[in-house]
This record gives sequence, structure tokens and C-alpha cells, in this order.
Amino acid sequence: MNVTVFGTGYVGLVQGAVLANAGHNVVCVDVDSHKIERLKEGFIPIYEPGLESLVKENYSEGRLDFTTDSSQAVTHGDIQFIAVGTPPDEDGSADLKYVLAVAETIAQHMDRHQIIIDKSTVPVGTADKVKARIADTLAARGRSDLTFDVVSNPEFLKEGSAVADSQKPDRIVIGTDSEHAEEVMRELYAPFNRIHEKIIVMDVRSAELTKYAANCMLATKISFMNEMANLAERLGADIEMVRQGIGSDPRIGYHFIYPGVGYGGSCFPKDVQALIRTADGIDFDAKVLKAVEARNYEQKTTLFQKIQSHYGDELKGKTFALWGLAFKPNTDDMREAPSRVLMEALWQAGAKVQAYDPEAMEETQRIYGSRDDLSLCGTKEAALKGADALIIVTEWKSFRAPDFELIKQQLSLPIIFDGRNLYEPKRMSKKGITYYSVGRL
Ligand code: UDX
Repeated sequence: MNVTVFGTGYVGLVQGAVLANAGHNVVCVDVDSHKIERLKEGFIPIYEPGLESLVKENYSEGRLDFTTDSSQAVTHGDIQFIAVGTPPDEDGSADLKYVLAVAETIAQHMDRHQIIIDKSTVPVGTADKVKARIADTLAARGRSDLTFDVVSNPEFLKEGSAVADSQKPDRIVIGTDSEHAEEVMRELYAPFNRIHEKIIVMDVRSAELTKYAANCMLATKISFMNEMANLAERLGADIEMVRQGIGSDPRIGYHFIYPGVGYGGSCFPKDVQALIRTADGIDFDAKVLKAVEARNYEQKTTLFQKIQSHYGDELKGKTFALWGLAFKPNTDDMREAPSRVLMEALWQAGAKVQAYDPEAMEETQRIYGSRDDLSLCGTKEAALKGADALIIVTEWKSFRAPDFELIKQQLSLPIIFDGRNLYEPKRMSKKGITYYSVGRL
């Protein structure tokens, strides 16, 4: 099938590469000509396991191409994916200007029936807006004779395993009221639907809400667990025991009940906020979502609070080794990363940071530039040198079994503030390390 994908960000690029790899002929379009040139040379702007080889292979075999020419791209596709960004605007609602601009571009250039698919995470009702924009543009061209379907097909990939998630999706949600569009979508996804039925067809609005409901449910689990961890700390209970105790109930499950430093990334914070705004817009008070957001906001400050209460007013002039900058492992993404809230609070208090992350060093440099109170270190060991304590913010695998003797040698005092509960508190105390965790005894 000939497929056009607008947007070469996380969602668009992964979707394009994975569809090409399944045998479709895919053209990815972006307005950023530099990015398109670099993609053709095999340079992938994001770190995502497996993506580079997938892009290079499919590009060299001619199933995947990149262009800035939207007219040519629209003509190529029998279906058109919209996978551009929906950044939050000032009040936290999803800004649809890029999505609607692509809808207009498609309508300007289409010359046959088209299926337009919303892949970006967009508020309920967006498909109607896309439909209206296309109809208006076609009318202005004097081509109201051209027919089209708008489908909602939300993306559920996780950063760090985006390729694997897209190649083996656990569900494929298709929102449409058109039998023809359903048939085409089934054909498109047939290579991914072999072993058991993963396609769930529903009306457009339900598909749009499904994406938000999924992310908000996961965010709720995390905020709930963070609240339990904070309670455990104050009640003298061990959240790790509580986690195992509740996770064993299949209705609760073990996934997404790890307490920590709050959720970050490009999806959860943005989507929870956007759904709150959608609810506000129809005078519905989304009480649960507001609490989820408020807990997360506070959770991002808890590590700093622990550091502050340990050192009292003596933070000025202290140096901290910081392990983990990305919002989660296996990505270089720093969007809404808890490490940023922490570093900024430490700097504000006059402390210095010696940071290490396996992937997000360049991104940190890009965001903060050069500053006297931040050293980016080449290894996790180098970050420890002469620091007053170690702080762990991201649970990269390489942090799970460090050389504790070396940590003790390098730090001026053996103190670890762990925002991810990587180590056993009892073991730490046996080793003579002062260990702060999230809700552990
Ligand atoms: C998320 C959804 O998982 C994905 O389905 C959706 O399409 C996009 O948003 P992503 O943002 O890549 O994916 O990251 P995810 O692995 O879900 O983690 C989100 C955040 O939650 C991270 O900051 C992570 O540290 C935090 N988290 C996750 C916890 O604090 N505890 C947990 O138990 C799980």
C-alpha cells in the first residue's frame, strides 16, 4: 500500500519505518528540510533502539523515502497519516495548529478519495475539526466533489521500546464510521495482526478518548503509588513490600506501580493536562485527574526536600553527583524530566551538580548550555569524584549494581539519595551508606 506520513518526530518516524518494514511504500514528509536531508543520510534525530537500522535498511531498499514536497507526498499516498506534534498551549490544552495545517495541506493537493488518519494524540472532537478543515479547503479549491474519510488511530508506543511496541502492538485501535476506511486499515495492519486479533474498531470519539484514558490511567497508577510511598515513609511501612503485596492481585497487576520521582516525558504530563482542559471546557470538574497531576507536581520535588532536610541550610557550596538525566531509561528525552526540577532546585540553593547519563548528556548540554554549577561527566564514576552525596534520578540498568566501595571512596561522605529504589536499604546500612529511598524502611 502507498502510505504518506506527515511528521518525522517520534510517532511519525517510527510508524513510517515500521510500515515500510512490513512491505508498504512509505513517504515521510516534514517541513524541516535539514531534518529530511539528515534522515536521507541515515542520521536519526532521536535515540531509539532499533530505529536507525530500520530506517537505513528500508530507505536503501526503496520502501521508505523522505521529502519536504507535500504535493508529491500527498499524491503518493492512498492513505495519509497525520503524526505531527500537539504541544500544550499556554493553558495546557493540546494545540492543534500543526494538525490542522497538515489537514489543509492534504486537502490542497489531494486528487482522489483519501483516508486521513489522526495518529497524533489529539483531543476528542479533533477528527471533526480535521474533517471541517479539509471540506473547507476542498470547497475553496472548487473540488467539493472529492470524497474522504477521517480515521482516528492513536499510537501507544513507549519511548525506549518504540520500534518493538509498533512491530508488536498489543492493540490497534481504529476509530471510524466508514466501512471502506475500516477495510483499508485492516489491510494496512494485516502484517501486524497475524497471531491473534488486535484490531478494535470503534467510533471516532471513543478512539480519541481511548488514548487519553490509557495514559491517564497509567499516570493515575503512578501518582497513587507515589502517594502510598509518601504515606509508607510517614507510617513506618515499606512500600516495596506493599508493592509486591498489591501487585499479586491480578486486578491490580505489577505494572506501573513503581514509586519514584514522578512521571515525566512527552505524554503523561501533557495528556493528563489536556484531558483536564477538555473537561474544563465542558464544565466538568475532572477531580481524579487534577489530583493525579497535583501529586506528580509535588513528587518531583520530594528528592530535593529530602536533600534539604538532610543538609539544613548548608546546601550552598555542596556538590552532588547525579546519575540519570533522561526522564526514563533507554531514551535521551529530557522533556518534563524530574532531573530538571531537581537540578534547578539545587542550583537555586547554591549547590553544584556533577551529572552523568548514558544517553542524555548532549540534550542536557543543549538545554542548559555551559554553566559553572553543572559538570557533565563522561562516566558514572567520574561524576562521583569529590561529591558530597550521590543522587539517583533515572533507573538505567548500569546503575543497578555499582561498585559501592568505589562510591564510598569517591564521595566525601557515603550518602545516597535514591529516587528509584534501586538498592536494598538494609544492605546499604550494612555497608555504612546513609541511604534515602522513596517509601522504603
Ligand atoms: C507513555 C505510555 O506508556 C505510552 O503507552 C504512550 O503511548 C506514551 O506515554 P512514555 O512516555 O514513553 O510512554 O514512558 P513510560 O515508560 O510509560 O513512562 C512514563 C513515566 O512514568 C516515566 O517518567 C517513568 O519513570 C514513570 N513511571 C512509570 C513511574 O514513575 N513508575 C512506574 O511504575 C512506571
